[in-house]
Amino acid sequence: MPLTDKFGRIHDNLRISVTDRCNIRCFYCMPEEGVQFTDRAEILSFEEIERFVRAAVPLGVTKLRLTGGEPLVRRDLPRLIERLVVIPGIRDIALTTNAVLLGKYASDLYSAGLRRLNIHLDTLDRARFLQITRRDDLPRVLAGIDEAVRVGFEKIKFNVVAVKGLIEPDIVPMARFCRERGFEPRYIEFMPLDSQALWGRKRVLTADEMIAMISEEIGPLEAVPDADPRAPATEYRYADGGGRVGFIASVSKPFCLNCNRIRLTSDGKLRYCLFAIDETDVKGLLRSNASDEEIAAVIRQNVAEKWLGHEINSVKFVPPPRPMYAIGG
Ligand code: 5AD
Ligand code: SF4
Repeated sequence: MPLTDKFGRIHDNLRISVTDRCNIRCFYCMPEEGVQFTDRAEILSFEEIERFVRAAVPLGVTKLRLTGGEPLVRRDLPRLIERLVVIPGIRDIALTTNAVLLGKYASDLYSAGLRRLNIHLDTLDRARFLQITRRDDLPRVLAGIDEAVRVGFEKIKFNVVAVKGLIEPDIVPMARFCRERGFEPRYIEFMPLDSQALWGRKRVLTADEMIAMISEEIGPLEAVPDADPRAPATEYRYADGGGRVGFIASVSKPFCLNCNRIRLTSDGKLRYCLFAIDETDVKGLLRSNASDEEIAAVIRQNVAEKWLGHEINSVKFVPPPRPMYAIGG
């Protein structure tokens, strides 16, 4: 029986946060100072993560994404990938990273079997990178990207967080950079997941606004007809054939009806939604002698309780108790 919720949505996609730590401090995610990270003893070990994935595969989970915090600050991450790629039934593993440490790890990640990378990068301007992330690391990020390409990563995707009143000057340069290098940018509407409550509807640069900007400056974009309806990004392509651009319009066009995702936090909580208020502990099970069947039953139960979707656009909206870095995007 696939992992189905009461709205008939089938869940085959598991996002695993391997740490809540990060080496930069994007303002829409973390405060500049004083972040309280989880104690190491509370973080799932690689063995525990592998065990969880093996219990989830018989329920139909086929796709994994490793996130953070910043996953590459977790020591020996390539060793986790080696353990996960060999699990029968896992067809796809992706990694979301800010690329600060990619120069160091790209080769090892590729050798471990990773083929899909999403790089979080908002700007190609060093001063603006410093302003957004409070770290002067753009040169390392760019070197990391070059190294990833050199070792063989193809079709890298870029996550750009679209904060209105800030990111407008970077939208077109990021699109050009990706178009020239064969990458795909994905513009993510700013979501209320920051730890400082900076979010507001007026601070969201919408997909339609960005489509207009890119079409005007670079060339017309058209919707990709055969795009995967279950993917969060709406896919566009340049009419001249010069590549694709994705938009994750979580705020202006919520896509919850197509959701196929569940999330495991680094401290072992299962979440049926990025914005979920309730979560289910699985670390306790993993650290007692629970059987795979017992773990599977808890996963089923969590998905059975899944709500229809977030209500960012409603006055009823309550932000999740954890910020982005403690959930994993
Ligand atoms: N709104 C939208 N996207 C965000 N991200 C981080 N914080 C936010 C936010 N408040 C993105 C980053 C990261 C991905 C997992 O989520 O681009 O790569
Ligand atoms: Fe780190 Fe990602 Fe949060 Fe930026 S958005 S501070 S890279 S976890």
